[in-house]
Amino acid sequence: MVPSSLALHFFDRESELDQLAKKFGSHGGVAVLVGLGGIGKTQVALAYAHNHKYEYDVVLWITCHSESAILQTFSDAAKTLGLVANSEQNQCEGYETLLHWMQNSRK
Ligand SMILES: Nc1ncnc2c1ncn2[C@@H]1O[C@H](COP(=O)(O)OP(=O)(O)O)[C@@H](O)[C@H]1O
Ligand SMILES: [Mg+2]
Repeated sequence: MVPSSLALHFFDRESELDQLAKKFGSHGGVAVLVGLGGIGKTQVALAYAHNHKYEYDVVLWITCHSESAILQTFSDAAKTLGLVANSEQNQCEGYETLLHWMQNSRK
């Protein structure tokens, strides 16, 4: 569930990708990419997600520009994962269900 818009000619960001791998380690962790718009943050995140997808049960790409976007993304993901019915109209239901699922997920 990650956008497939990795740059066609992605130039190596080995040092940044290594730093992310160290941050996450084998027990998970949090990393924040900061910098001016256009500097390549999204591309590094996409490359990391693609390179390490087999280490995780699921990789979610959450759109966070607004509260409703977050709810929508969670709700869509909950449906894709089969956690709630496709016909579920209540976004909060999908949000709560996915959050609970993530808290109990192994990887
Ligand atoms: N490593 C890279 N290799 C090739 N193109 C890149 C790379 N990083 C960024 N770009 C180009 O620059 C654009 C902006 O990068 P992006 O990751 O969206 O920046 P940010 O998220 O920091 O605003 C991308 O759409 C892509 O065309
Ligand atoms: Mg970006």
